[in-house]
Amino acid sequence: MKAVLVTGGAGYIGSHVCKALAKKGYLPVTIDNLSTGNRQAVKWGPFFEGDIGDKKLIQSLLERHPICGTIHLAAYSNVRESHQIPLKYFRNNVSATLKLLEVLHEKKITLVVFSSTCAIYGMPQKVPIDEGHLKKPINPYGESKLMVEKILQTVPSLQYAILRYFNAAGADLDGEIGESHDPETHLIPLLIQTALGQRDTFTLNGEDHETEDGTPVRDFIHVADLAQAHILALEKLLEKKVNLILNLGTGKGYSVRHVISYVEEKVQAKIPILKGSRFPGDPPILIANGTKAVETLHWKPSFDLVKMIETAWNWHQKKSGTAIQKLQTSTQSFHSG
Ligand SMILES: NC(=O)c1ccc[n+]([C@@H]2O[C@H](COP(=O)([O-])OP(=O)(O)OC[C@H]3O[C@@H](n4cnc5c(N)ncnc54)[C@H](O)[C@@H]3O)[C@@H](O)[C@H]2O)c1
Repeated sequence: MKAVLVTGGAGYIGSHVCKALAKKGYLPVTIDNLSTGNRQAVKWGPFFEGDIGDKKLIQSLLERHPICGTIHLAAYSNVRESHQIPLKYFRNNVSATLKLLEVLHEKKITLVVFSSTCAIYGMPQKVPIDEGHLKKPINPYGESKLMVEKILQTVPSLQYAILRYFNAAGADLDGEIGESHDPETHLIPLLIQTALGQRDTFTLNGEDHETEDGTPVRDFIHVADLAQAHILALEKLLEKKVNLILNLGTGKGYSVRHVISYVEEKVQAKIPILKGSRFPGDPPILIANGTKAVETLHWKPSFDLVKMIETAWNWHQKKSGTAIQKLQTSTQSFHSG
């Protein structure tokens, strides 16, 4: 069984990648420092708790598990926080990645599939955005990802697949894993948490964008489709001496207002909305031109926005049910004690 190192495998997308790898007969070996990930999401292979910048830990992991390649997802990804504490983002997303790459290089492990983002493009000059679009990030998070892209492209011994995701959404189709960030910043989980009464209101930031209904338009892609694309990209690198740079999106845009109405339809309730002001520098429209990925990987996103909301809703309901059960059990044991 071929082993694959998955950095950030305890995170939202990483855990779905691990599940997809295991399903395809690979052994996912996770390293994660649990800064934003969850231990319970690591279910399909060995887990090393620690930092990707800890060279000794990576060396000992590689001695125990000879790996054929790395899927590198570990990073901080909160755009707003990256404005407030940029150094935290460069230290983690760039410096720690460099340490990881140095160890991989020493051990002659050359294959890297890297989680990049549409944030590297900055304010789009035209949509849909293709891979050749100008790269001019407007936040430190996007800058940090672009720096790693450049490093990967500059080191001749590395063979890379740079995957630029648009907005990951949805949850595992079997309901085993899902999106669980704290603090949560993503649209669909925020709406669902509000619908479940875990938040009082959902804040709608800006209705004065240059879009049809004034709210930002985004391209959402199901996390299971994303995971599949990682396996195909890895296999492409294993099969041929190529490098890949691919957008991963569906090519369809939905406004925040649209997403709200889809969620309301699913949960059969009105979501309380608080009108907030527009985030400075928030691009009005981000839609991928994803044709290159479709052609190169022979892959097509299978799930639409309705499925993304349905799987996310099932996951959040299950999670809140478990939380209530735990609370009831602990209250019972408190009373009986
Ligand atoms: N979620 C999206 O829509 C989206 C869009 C574009 C790109 N991305 C990228 O995809 C990747 C995964 O995103 P996600 O949404 O699953 O986020 P996540 O926060 O759920 O996952 C990131 C994981 O990396 C771990 N981690 C962070 N720094 C680490 C370090 N130094 N050492 C070890 N582990 C570390 C965290 O604990 C977490 O488990 C990130 O690189 C992110 O930038 C995400």
